[in-house]
Amino acid sequence: MSFLDLETQINGLDFENPVMLAAGILGTTGSSLKNVSNHGAGGLVTKTITKPPKKGHNGPVLLEANSSYLNAMGLPNPGASEFIEELKDLKDIKKPIIASVSGEKIEELKEVVSLLNDYVDGFEVNLSCPNVEGGIICKESSLVESYIIGARKETNKPIWAKLSPDIEEIDKKAKVAEKSGANAIVAINTVEGMEIDIKSGRPILSNKKGGISGEAINPIALKCVYDIYKAVEIPVIGVGGVYNWENAIKLIMAGSSAIQIGSGISKGLNIFEEVKKGIIEFLKKEGFNSIDEIKGISHRY
Ligand code: FUM
Repeated sequence: MSFLDLETQINGLDFENPVMLAAGILGTTGSSLKNVSNHGAGGLVTKTITKPPKKGHNGPVLLEANSSYLNAMGLPNPGASEFIEELKDLKDIKKPIIASVSGEKIEELKEVVSLLNDYVDGFEVNLSCPNVEGGIICKESSLVESYIIGARKETNKPIWAKLSPDIEEIDKKAKVAEKSGANAIVAINTVEGMEIDIKSGRPILSNKKGGISGEAINPIALKCVYDIYKAVEIPVIGVGGVYNWENAIKLIMAGSSAIQIGSGISKGLNIFEEVKKGIIEFLKKEGFNSIDEIKGISHRY
């Protein structure tokens, strides 16, 4: 291993660097995932896949304000069987590919995991979508438990549980996921919000409410990762508002073993290289040899 190699192991999977693509963006086709891979992402998380194809909500589904995004896409995706064709395209990519998966019922989730199992390296169970009825599954500990146990029955591969910041006691929900068989916790999904047009008084999104992403949510992600890191033994993967290497370093210092980039891609796909370079330069400058040396460092104080 060379000095300051960013290679990272999570659940036995080798990531050439800890900067991954987050679920939800550029993750529904093989070609868009390949493109992100070619831009230096260390791992790829797909758009959330359900059993049936989903069209998503009618527009407007996305708006941008104050460097933040508000989306209510409604989980548009081609459905698990169709998505397998996209995954077949990725056979030559030697980076971990994690399928983000969900289901309205546990049985649906189990079918999705079973269908995709031969084509991916692991699963991120989306327990936290604010944009579909009952999508913030992780509000209920009992559902966290049954969804993770259900997924575990269908795969021996790593299972990550993605949590929402809009729940009580996120640390306790993370612990429940761990006890139920999750191998890592991903925090956070978008923060619930809405926008209103003052001329008409009408909510702007067709779904009325949605999820906020963008750099503004980085401090919320930091707090959630910080709390979860204290509660669990399994790795925590930080996501939320990574727009530059400083945001990434902070998530690692809060306790993240790796980080994911979603809305930050709006700055261009070079963000993966920029964040990696920034992490390496920071470590060198501050006299650290690896990200492990700064992981969770904020807990010393
Ligand atoms: O609406 C959406 O597709 C968003 C999903 C999510 O935030 O998990």
